[in-house]
Amino acid sequence: MNIIIRNNAAEGSLWAAHYIAEKINAKAKVSDKPFVLGLCTGSTPIQTYAELIRMVKDGEVSFKNVISFNMDEYVGLPESHPESYHSFMHRYLFDHIDEPAQNIHILNGNAADPVAECQAYEDAIVAAGGFDLFLGGVGEDGHIAFNEPFSSLASRTRVVTLTQDTREVNARFFDGDFNKVPRQALTVGVATVLSSKEVVILAFGSKKARALKDAIEGPMSHYCTLSGLQGHPAGTIVCDENSVGELKVNSYRYFKAVEAAEKQ
Ligand code: GLP
Repeated sequence: MNIIIRNNAAEGSLWAAHYIAEKINAKAKVSDKPFVLGLCTGSTPIQTYAELIRMVKDGEVSFKNVISFNMDEYVGLPESHPESYHSFMHRYLFDHIDEPAQNIHILNGNAADPVAECQAYEDAIVAAGGFDLFLGGVGEDGHIAFNEPFSSLASRTRVVTLTQDTREVNARFFDGDFNKVPRQALTVGVATVLSSKEVVILAFGSKKARALKDAIEGPMSHYCTLSGLQGHPAGTIVCDENSVGELKVNSYRYFKAVEAAEKQ
């Protein structure tokens, strides 16, 4: 697992945006095949998306040959609701870049048959060629997408029930009212994320410190679903100084030393 530690969220977000753009550009140089990108929501990726938008506007990268799949969506929330992940993605990314509308995939949380919707999503990912890179965030309890603690590390796209903790944390997006937060979501599974050739996770701020400690130093366990990244050959967590605050000093020094050595 690679751990990239930047001074703050702004610097970490720039690192991630430039890394993703480099990967899209590198594939475009050698192949006509689309770049298949997994995307996330939450407050964490907003600055990364802002930098990607700037790069598209300045001609440094293009999403014309990118196919994206978002990780998750609430069940039962109208797509037009400002806090649906559909609305979020259009507001913070899709309305400002050149990705063709037909290349954008987001789970339909209002599907008449949610189980069929989830299977069709897995099938569409395979038909697109599988993920080149999956960008994710992490919940305070270490969940990736909406794979709450004790979700199987072998899980695939499915309907899940959100924990009380997650609904309380996400109440900030629903006028602070816990009861307005949907109780269920559709989410890609841990194994769906890990099927990507590469996984990049963003984690900024001290509220993510416990999740990172569990994911990086703890055992690979369904208790912290981000820890599944330990079994991936190309997993990177982009953090800031605050989010690594609970790592052992020696772990912190190790990751800093690896990065310094790679720059030489
Ligand atoms: C939700 C999303 C996750 C996201 C997490 C953290 O639970 N389903 O994909 O990583 O929130 O959100 P934030 O970035 O706002 O801390």
